[in-house]
Amino acid sequence: MLKGKHIVLGISGGIAAYKSVMLLRLLVKRGAEVQVVITPNGKEFITPVTLSALSGKPVVSEFFTANTGEWHSHVDLGLWADLMIIAPATASTIGKMANGIADNMLITTYLSAKEQVMVAPAMDLDMWRHPSTQRNIATLRKDGVIIVEPEAGELASGLVGKGRMEEPENIVKAAEEYFSRMATLKGKKVLVTAGPTFENIDPVRFIGNYSSGKMGFAIADEFASRGAEVTLVAGPVSIKETHPGVRRIDVRSAKEMCEAAVSNFGDADYVVLAAAVADYAPESVADSKIKREGTDGMTLRLVKNPDIAATLGCMKDHQKLIGFALETDHELENAHHKLEKKHLDWIVLNSLNDPEAGFMKDTNKITIVSASGEEMEYPAKSKREVAKDIVDVVAV
Ligand code: CTP
Repeated sequence: MLKGKHIVLGISGGIAAYKSVMLLRLLVKRGAEVQVVITPNGKEFITPVTLSALSGKPVVSEFFTANTGEWHSHVDLGLWADLMIIAPATASTIGKMANGIADNMLITTYLSAKEQVMVAPAMDLDMWRHPSTQRNIATLRKDGVIIVEPEAGELASGLVGKGRMEEPENIVKAAEEYFSRMATLKGKKVLVTAGPTFENIDPVRFIGNYSSGKMGFAIADEFASRGAEVTLVAGPVSIKETHPGVRRIDVRSAKEMCEAAVSNFGDADYVVLAAAVADYAPESVADSKIKREGTDGMTLRLVKNPDIAATLGCMKDHQKLIGFALETDHELENAHHKLEKKHLDWIVLNSLNDPEAGFMKDTNKITIVSASGEEMEYPAKSKREVAKDIVDVVAV
């Protein structure tokens, strides 16, 4: 799995740096090409000579070589690498990564990284559990960094607790898992719709719904983390972060969402319709704000919006279509009916009667119904876990 892979191994200044020698050795033994980037403090713990002898490449630490003036390009490293592993990552390095403080070659390399980044933190237990470290770790997670959690055990300080860097064998395992996950859907194209749609009434009012987009975004991220090329057509949502493998198209109305979905449908392999599309839109949109003076009420005539799922269902060729059904009663019956009517391959049912399912929640409880009539029921899980279950079923 690691054969021929280009890996940047970042080493920061912690006692666990001695374990990075073993990590480097294991990576090289498995056929990876490794470029070590070490912080000035890292060199206090482990010598560049050992690292360059084992990697077969000069170790990079400074922005340029002092006596020759040779410039070390962090941008080139970002283009070269398939994976960057920072082990050990000290509290200070994690803090700099989370806040973009580019005062050494390791952090500039991180900021220029186009590849996946994985960090193996190592520090004392109090530093690990400090709110500041935990905040920074949460930021890195949001930025798409994989965290190889530290273990609990005896620490260099003599204290016992969580903070010890994960063993090199397990970091290698995490790298292998990453590459094998990336390989599973490489070359596949995915189209996802997510979030609500807003249908304008006038320049200040609209008809919308409570969809947060979290489920659709989690599905898009999950497909991308398995190597697929994902196009995400998103209604108006507040979510900012997406996996780097996701191309996002922001839309507002059902009509715009339909146009974007139709034009990206042709070469998609999997299409997931997770958006809560407004079924109706005002027949006409007022050019200026509708005033209340002089009226004793108002009638708004609504016309049907396009059914995106059904439209794509009719265009279907090789694509696998996955729809959602959020129901309040006769749940399974309605789900089967929608699956057939819209020519879907699977429908993911969630019931508004389940307290763990529905709009704006972080959890969901689903039943996946297949076109052949199979029903797979799952316990309540986080939307991220639910996304994994859905991709496991549909993309085999
Ligand atoms: N859907 C769609 N376009 C619409 C309405 C729904 O693409 N205009 C998709 C949703 O994204 C979902 C599936 O169709 O994947 C079912 O959505 P739902 O709102 O439950 O179904 P409707 O057909 O709108 O039926 P109803 O609202 O009457 O239950």
